[in-house]
Amino acid sequence: WANLAIVLLFGYLLGSIPFGLVLTKMAGLGDLRSIGSGNIGATNVLRTGNKKLAAATLLLDALKATAAALIAHAVFGHNAALFGGFAAFIGHLFPVWLGFKGGKGVATYIGTLLGVAPLMVLVFAVVWLAVAFISRYSSLSALLATLVIPVALWILGVEEAALVTAVMTVITFWRHKQNIERLIAGTESKIGNKG
Ligand code: G3P
Repeated sequence: WANLAIVLLFGYLLGSIPFGLVLTKMAGLGDLRSIGSGNIGATNVLRTGNKKLAAATLLLDALKATAAALIAHAVFGHNAALFGGFAAFIGHLFPVWLGFKGGKGVATYIGTLLGVAPLMVLVFAVVWLAVAFISRYSSLSALLATLVIPVALWILGVEEAALVTAVMTVITFWRHKQNIERLIAGTESKIGNKG
């Protein structure tokens, strides 16, 4: 239990680093929380018009979860990896530094997959890109991709990862409540729009 607590705490702390917020502040773009959707993730960084910064945010937010998973794996064995990634995902959503008001978890979801089941990143990317190509909605693309992942893992017989990612998918949907409302209302902003 002590090991699990260490994995969770370390993962949480890694995950709670809000790279989008830090990078945009360092670039002199102001507070990301008062731009676009107000979210601290890569999609909202893109609304500042700085594509490189958005890509860096996606990469760093993803890799902090990958690191949490891989370090947990290295120190405590294979089973700990999922929990490391999950803890980073939770850290990103509820960072202590931002009064527990964090992001929506898509990048850390991908990062967890990279650390635990790397092939699933490909599945995620294919679904995301296909939906984004057709709809140009970042939120919808991510939501559909997170729906496919636990199903794919389950079909492949990786039951523990299927279960944990299913929980992550439910949380991701909950965090996208406003996006879902906007999608239904037809007012969600599309990739390439600043709004
Ligand atoms: O899945 C992308 C999601 O994070 C949407 O972000 O800024 O459009 O709410 P945003």
